[in-house]
Amino acid sequence: MALREVLQFPDPRLKRKSERIETVTDELRELATDMLDVMYDEPGIGLAAPQVGASVRMIVMDTEWTEEDAERSPIVVVNPEIVTREGTITWNEGCLSVPDFQADVERAERVVVRGTDLDGKPFEEDARELRAVCFQHEIDHLDGMLFIDRISRLKRSMYVKKRKKQLREEQEESGPSVRSGRGL
Ligand code: NI
Repeated sequence: MALREVLQFPDPRLKRKSERIETVTDELRELATDMLDVMYDEPGIGLAAPQVGASVRMIVMDTEWTEEDAERSPIVVVNPEIVTREGTITWNEGCLSVPDFQADVERAERVVVRGTDLDGKPFEEDARELRAVCFQHEIDHLDGMLFIDRISRLKRSMYVKKRKKQLREEQEESGPSVRSGRGL
């Protein structure tokens, strides 16, 4: 079966605030499985539902897994919320929805996250460093926020320019071969 497509900046759906999940339906369970498939395939260490076009508050993560060490320990968190933040840490972040770019982002060094799992059981984790950064990054996605919204305006606008150029080039390669305005 084909994997779900990861939406990429500047897709407007990435800017929406996602809805709280009241009931975990079979459809949402399927979405969680699909999200994990996409995450491992890319590969990535975290993915939020809006990145695959589903505007609901659910994230998946596996910060342990690497391509070399194939052991997987995925988590799925429904309605994740940060209840405690402490300290600061700067991490060089990237995102599957922000192609070809990484930048330093300042975040809390430690967070306590609460939510539920797919069976409605309470989830709580006290996370630090990479794990804490990942939770904050994924939960940002649920609020329509990308890591490039947390860097300096200058760096952000440089990226936006680069990305627009990239999209123009992609379009020219696959676009119509007949162009107007050339004095024909
Ligand atoms: Ni991301």
